[in-house]
Amino acid sequence: MDFQLPYCFFFFLLLLLPFSTNGQTYRNISLGSSLTAGSDNLSWTSPSGDFSFGFQQVGDAGYLLAIWFNKIPERTMVWSANRNDLVQGGSRVQLTADGELILNDQSGRQIWIRPQSGGSGTAYAAMLDSGNFVVASQAGANLWQSFDEPTDTLLPTQNLNSGAQLIAPYLENKNYSEGRYKFILQADGNLILYTTHYPLTTSNFAYWSTQDSIGSGYRVVFNQSGYMYLVAQNGTMLNSVFSNSVSMQNFYLRATIDYDGVYVLQHASHIKLPHSCSC
Ligand SMILES: *[C@@H]1O[C@H](CO)[C@@H](O)[C@H](O)[C@H]1NC(C)=O
Ligand SMILES: *[C@@H]1O[C@H](CO)[C@@H](O)[C@H](O)[C@H]1NC(C)=O
Ligand SMILES: *[C@@H]1O[C@H](CO)[C@@H](O)[C@H](O)[C@H]1NC(C)=O
Ligand SMILES: *[C@@H]1O[C@H](CO)[C@@H](O)[C@H](O)[C@H]1NC(C)=O
Ligand SMILES: *[C@@H]1O[C@H](CO)[C@@H](O)[C@H](O)[C@H]1NC(C)=O
Repeated sequence: MDFQLPYCFFFFLLLLLPFSTNGQTYRNISLGSSLTAGSDNLSWTSPSGDFSFGFQQVGDAGYLLAIWFNKIPERTMVWSANRNDLVQGGSRVQLTADGELILNDQSGRQIWIRPQSGGSGTAYAAMLDSGNFVVASQAGANLWQSFDEPTDTLLPTQNLNSGAQLIAPYLENKNYSEGRYKFILQADGNLILYTTHYPLTTSNFAYWSTQDSIGSGYRVVFNQSGYMYLVAQNGTMLNSVFSNSVSMQNFYLRATIDYDGVYVLQHASHIKLPHSCSC
């Protein structure tokens, strides 16, 4: 059965500078490395240059510790650590000698720390070409990954597990704090778009859901071709969320819940002219 989302549109962005990276050569991020908000060394970039991890300034309000598309002029963010608690210039993120990834504000106050279970076993961190930022052991096991803690966006190969949610930003491009809509795969298997009891993020009114997946919905899969679907624990597809009709070859793709509650699949193009359509 096919229960496509009621809202869907594609949005293409023109890429002006295909190789506008900061000229950093890629390496694993070693213990003791840090980035400082407002200084010149603003990011750690993936091997392909497609994604960066670091500080993004939000108007005059401060900085977000974020991951963004690094090769498109808009530098669209796909994840952030401190969306409800911006930090000021001079704040620092460090992969400590103890193996913890820590964000401290300019006064040294700890804002955010991962893995929450501690850094024992950490060998390095890395910004991967998939858009996943990982803290890893010597054997390459991910002790923490940004893909497990989505904010408002899923990227291809990133799944939404039972109990996980996306929360819309409060305002488009201005205020990224948690807003008035959310997309959640409930523990009961129901995949739902809700309004929130803003400023709380608790569920209020459901305006779209899969319903018939209660008792069997296990994981939302977002695959490399841009298809998104809900599966049961045995891997059977239960509901299609998005089916993609556009060739993926020259596009970056993301699925985002927008500030106005519309859940959209977006392409950012390497080569095409700006274009949008409703379908
Ligand atoms: C990163 O570290 C891992 C584990 O030590 C190693 O296998 C991998 O080759 C390193 N990658 C780079 C680009 O240095
Ligand atoms: C970034 O800048 C800070 C302070 O200027 C410095 O301590 C840190 O080592 C730099 N990090 C990198 C990756 O160059
Ligand atoms: C975002 O909006 C909320 C609600 O109005 C407000 O509390 C918060 O300070 C705003 N954040 C920024 C960075 O403007
Ligand atoms: C997989 O799980 C679904 C939902 O629980 C069930 O309807 C289906 O029969 C299962 N298929 C197999 C092959 O076990
Ligand atoms: C993604 O899922 C669709 C629908 O099941 C399938 O046709 C396609 O081959 C999948 N793509 C990949 C890369 O697995």
